Amino acid sequence: MDIRIFASNPLLNTAAAGLIAHLLQAKPNAVLGLATGGTPVGIYEELIKLYTLQHIQFREAISFNLDEYVGLPETHDQSYHAYMQQHLFKHIDLPQSNIHIPNGNATDLEAECARYDALLDGVKQIDLQILGLGHNGHIGFNEPDEGLVGGTHLVELKEETRLANARYFNNLAEVPTHAITMGIGTILKARTILLVVRGTDKAKIVHDALTGPITTENPASLLQTHPNLVVMLDTEAGELFS
Ligand code: F6R
Repeated sequence: MDIRIFASNPLLNTAAAGLIAHLLQAKPNAVLGLATGGTPVGIYEELIKLYTLQHIQFREAISFNLDEYVGLPETHDQSYHAYMQQHLFKHIDLPQSNIHIPNGNATDLEAECARYDALLDGVKQIDLQILGLGHNGHIGFNEPDEGLVGGTHLVELKEETRLANARYFNNLAEVPTHAITMGIGTILKARTILLVVRGTDKAKIVHDALTGPITTENPASLLQTHPNLVVMLDTEAGELFS
């Protein structure tokens, strides 16, 4: 495990984007596993800069997003479809046909999960999976539980997750109760995992996840088993590592 702590968020963003840029330069058809939420926004901004400067291109790349809310129209500004367009896709040359995000509005959600897994099977392995971290240890929307699921599946979001994400909506009632998420098995199969965590409010959960017992009650703790995990923390999130 490679844990790096950055003195500022801009430095973290540059380093994280640099890791992704190196991958794309070495392997233009890389498969990228993408996350949403507040954590990766600054990284996507850096990637857009690198693209604009013609240091990288996405023409041959393939992307798979971790998750999507159930029942939120794709046009809703808080859907992860809309988020990805706004923060990354509309600014770069990644072909629409190479973009994959679960369809949270499918009439048959089980079939949609199976369809997503079949697409993931088709690429065999994600080259680099970006992860943020929930306050309860969730990665993707794999919430703490007695057991975890390997493949893509429907989840009921924990109240703490809905509360944390309510800041992006008008009120808690608007936050969807369910989501489709890539499973822990798929995440752990990625060649490289980049876990990014920011803020003092996540210092304890990330420290527990990376140094505490491996338990499904803290899904991110399973990342300890991954052979190629890079962790990027800002000073606040990294305050318990010293
Ligand atoms: C998002 C995702 C979630 C977030 C996590 C942290 O696609 O899968 O696991 O990474 O909830 O969210 P932020 O970054 O908003 O604190």
